[in-house]
Amino acid sequence: MIILAIESSCDETSAAVIKDSNILSNIVSSQLQHSDYGGVIPELASRLHQQQIVRVVKKALQTAEVEKEELNAVAFTRGPGLLGALLVGISFAKTFAFGLGIPLIEVNHMEAHVLANFIDSPQPEFPFICLTVSGGHTQLVLVRDYLNMEIIGETIDDAAGEAFDKAAKIMGLPYPGGPLIDKYAKEGDIHAFQFPTPDVGKYTFSFSGLKTSILYMLRDGIKENPKFIEDNLNDICASYQHRIITILLDQLKLAAEEHHVKHLAIAGGVSANSLLRTRFQELCDQNGWQAHIPAFEYCTDNAGMIAIAAHYKYVKGEFADLDVVPFTRGKG
Ligand code: KG4
Ligand code: ZN
Repeated sequence: MIILAIESSCDETSAAVIKDSNILSNIVSSQLQHSDYGGVIPELASRLHQQQIVRVVKKALQTAEVEKEELNAVAFTRGPGLLGALLVGISFAKTFAFGLGIPLIEVNHMEAHVLANFIDSPQPEFPFICLTVSGGHTQLVLVRDYLNMEIIGETIDDAAGEAFDKAAKIMGLPYPGGPLIDKYAKEGDIHAFQFPTPDVGKYTFSFSGLKTSILYMLRDGIKENPKFIEDNLNDICASYQHRIITILLDQLKLAAEEHHVKHLAIAGGVSANSLLRTRFQELCDQNGWQAHIPAFEYCTDNAGMIAIAAHYKYVKGEFADLDVVPFTRGKG
């Protein structure tokens, strides 16, 4: 069974080929053009997907050494994501599948992030809890089976990735700021500055207060020293990152204890963060939980994760109709 999978929900145009449950290729073309604007411009994203999609799909097939006639299905991200960006991937997938006379498979982007944990071994055992942290979402997901997931907690305002990106923007760093904060934090002191822990309920996240607090802290610091950010960049990044990761892992720990799971996973773009990866592993080691972290290339948006999700849907015979439409929020 060979499936071509396409991801175009935000600012990565990606195509992957999977044979049974083995990823043969995973090509990702990142739209660096958005960095000039400090965030993703939806209209620009759609146009860049249009320009790249044919090249990216061709490269995915070539790398996998698969002819299009060998494909058994075409999968695509149906949502959540940017409407125009999703439409490019969906239209391409429909046309390709229709032309080849093979079935279509729709995939939920957030479920695919979770299922990225099944690309490599050892795989998580059900039930497990996954902390899914990306630019648009922060979720605690109770995973009962490949296609049976329940969101047991989420953010009431910004996502964890947004907390990274917005702070970076305030500090004058280019988009996406998460990887840069991660980099500078490596040389900084996590106790140099204090950031607040939000007073929210169980399994709930909130990051908008953190963003406000860094804004005021920088404003006050700059009043005293115009070069405050430059002089303290590593320490600011380390302290701020430390607070985000602590907030995330405290809630994950609580959820793991209360649900008595033995396996835990992380997923999504922020799971590429080096401190989160280390501290998550430590948390699991201390509590006797089995930790699962996707390989780096399957953390940020990629079609490999869409492909593994499509594999499980193909096995269950879950196919989409040709009149399927994208959804921008929720589960669709
Ligand atoms: O999953 P993803 O690629 O796209 C969405 O579905 O949103 O996640 C992108 C997010 C961005 O906010 C980016 O800053 C963040 O993941 N990110 C990181 C790191 N790498 C990517 N955040 C912190 N540390 C990183 N190393
Ligand atoms: Zn994503």
